[in-house]
Amino acid sequence: MNKRLAEILLKEWAWLVLSMLLVAGTAHAQTAMINVQSRNATSLNGEWNVILDPTGIGEWRQIWQEKKPLLKTDFVEYAFEGSPRLKVPGDFNSQMCELTYFEGVVWYKKEFSYSPDKNKRLFIHFSAVNYLADVYLNGEKLGSHEGGFTPFQFEVTKKIKPGTNALIVKVDNKRLKNGLPGLGYDWLNYGGITRDVNLIETGNTYIEDYSIQRRKGSQKEVLGWVKLNGADKQKRIKIKIPELKVELSVKSDSKGVARLQFSSSFNLWSPAYPKLYKVVIETETDTVEDEIGFRTIEVKGNKVMLNGKEIFLKGTNIHEENPVKGARAFSKEDAILLLGQAKQLGCNLVRLAHYPHNENMVKQAERMGLMVWSELPVYQHIEFSDTAVLSKMDLMLKEMVRRDRNRCSVVIWSLSNETYDATPNRTKALAALTQVCRQLDSTRLVTHVTNSQAYHNNSFKVWDSLYRYADLISLNEYIGWYIPWQGKPENVTWNVAFPDKPVFISEFGGEALFGNNSGAADEAASWREEYQQQIYINQLRMFNTTPNLCGVAPWLLFDYRSLGRMHPIYQKGYNRKGLLSEKGDRKKAWFIMEKYYKRK
Ligand code: GCU
Repeated sequence: MNKRLAEILLKEWAWLVLSMLLVAGTAHAQTAMINVQSRNATSLNGEWNVILDPTGIGEWRQIWQEKKPLLKTDFVEYAFEGSPRLKVPGDFNSQMCELTYFEGVVWYKKEFSYSPDKNKRLFIHFSAVNYLADVYLNGEKLGSHEGGFTPFQFEVTKKIKPGTNALIVKVDNKRLKNGLPGLGYDWLNYGGITRDVNLIETGNTYIEDYSIQRRKGSQKEVLGWVKLNGADKQKRIKIKIPELKVELSVKSDSKGVARLQFSSSFNLWSPAYPKLYKVVIETETDTVEDEIGFRTIEVKGNKVMLNGKEIFLKGTNIHEENPVKGARAFSKEDAILLLGQAKQLGCNLVRLAHYPHNENMVKQAERMGLMVWSELPVYQHIEFSDTAVLSKMDLMLKEMVRRDRNRCSVVIWSLSNETYDATPNRTKALAALTQVCRQLDSTRLVTHVTNSQAYHNNSFKVWDSLYRYADLISLNEYIGWYIPWQGKPENVTWNVAFPDKPVFISEFGGEALFGNNSGAADEAASWREEYQQQIYINQLRMFNTTPNLCGVAPWLLFDYRSLGRMHPIYQKGYNRKGLLSEKGDRKKAWFIMEKYYKRK
C-alpha cells in the first residue's frame, strides 16, 4: 500500500473515532447570555452557502467534514463552494421556490476569520433556528438545539482557530410527533436560520444574566440579581440608572450571583407613557447597557391591574410573518410594520401567537407602548406522556423567560394553546410547568389558552382543569364562524368555571377575502367581508354582557400563510381571518374593531 494511501486511511479512521466520540458526547447548546445588542458582537448575518438535503443523506456523507478529492481518482459528491446561497437571518421557504413547502434538511455554511486573544472568551450565538440545529465548527460538532423560537449559544473559546474558521449548521424543520409544536399546526412551517447569528467576545468573566424589575405590588422598590459567568466569580458589581441618580454597588458570591434591592421614584411604563430608563451594569471586566421600563402587572379579584390601576386589554393576535413578503418576520422594520398596525387598530396589547417572537417585536412593543403576551408553542396535539416533551417544554420555558425577563412590555406568559383536558398527563405536566414559570418569574401573569367549551341553547359553558393554575381564564371561541349563533349574542348566558377570575377572549373572528363581492353576503361559504363584519358586530354585543371580561384579542391582525387552508379561490394557502389582507387592506370588520377599542 503506498504511503499516500496509508495517510488517507489513517485520517479517515481518525475521523471515524473522533466522530464516534463526539456523537457519544454530543453537547446540548448552552442557554444563551441575554442582551446581545449590548455585547461585543460581530454579526455573521449575510449570505451563507447552502446544500439542500431533502433525503437526509448529508449525515451519512458527513458533510461537516467538507472532504476534498486528494488523488486523481477521488471524487466527492457535495461541496459548499459553488452552492446556492441563502440570506441569514431568514426562512428558507420564501427564498427559493424549490423550498416553498420544504420540510427537511438544509446545510448552511459561513466562513469567518478571527484572531484569538487569551484574555477573551468567544461564543457563537443563534437568536433562533427552526427547528433542529446541529452546529459544527471546523469539522467538529459543537452540539445541538431543538426549538424554533428561542436563542442558544456555544462557547468556542478553545475551539476557534486563528484565521479562517468554517461554521456549518444542519437545519431540519421536519415536524416531530414529540416536537413543540407537534405534527399539526395552523401556520406555515418556516424553516432555516430565521434570526440573527453573532460571534460574541467577552472577558474571562462576563455578565451572563440579570433581572432588574419592580417588586410585585410595590410602587417604588426594585428587586433583582446579576449573574456572572467565569472563573473570577466574586466581583464588585455596579448598577446605575443615571436619569434617577441611582448607583448601587453589590458583590457577587462564590456562584457569581449578586442580589440587589433599591427604591426610587420612577415614571412608570404604560402603553400611554412607554418610559424606558438606561440601566448600566458593570464590573471591572464587563459592562452591559439595557433600556428597562418599570411597571407592575397583577390580578386583583376579577380585574387586571397595570401599575395598580384596572386596565382593559385591547389586544390583537399576530403571527411572526411579514405579510407583504410572505416570510418569517425577524427585523426591526418587520416589527414596526406589524406593531404599527396594532396601534392603528387601537390596541394596547399584542398576543404573539403561538411561539416566542423575535426580540425586535418585544423591544419595539416597549417603545411603541404595547403590552406583550408571549407564548410557548405547546399547541393542540402534544405528547405530554413523552418525558422528552416535558424536558423540552421546561427548556423552552427557561429560554423564553430568560431572554425577555427584563422586558417590561411582556406582561403575560402563556404556556399552552388549545391542548386537551383529556390528553393523558396534560394537566399534570402543564400544572408543573406553571409552577416552574412562577419560580422563574413571579412578576408576570401566567395563563393557558383553552377551547374547552359547550355552547347550547345560547348558554356558554367554559371549563378546564388548567384554570385552577392560571391568573386569567383565556378562551378561544368562534361563535358565528365555526359554530352558528343560537340566540341573541347579548343574551348568551355564561357559565365559567372559577367565576372569580378575569376572563380574556384570546381568539374570536372568522374568514373573509378582502374585496370579494361574489356569493351571498349572509353565507359563510362566500368568504364575504360582510359576513366577517357581522361576526364582529355580534361578538362585541356578546362582550357587553360577558362576566369578568378583562380583555379581548381578535384572531387576527393580518391574513397569513397556512397550508391547511386550501380553498382554491378564497384561501390559496392563507388563513383569511385577518382584519387586514396580507397587503394591508382593511376589511369591513377592521372598522368595527377599531371603533370598539376607541370607545373602550
Ligand atoms: C385556533 C388556533 C389558531 C387557529 C385558529 C383558526 O383557535 O388557536 O392557531 O389559526 O383557531 O382556526 O383559524
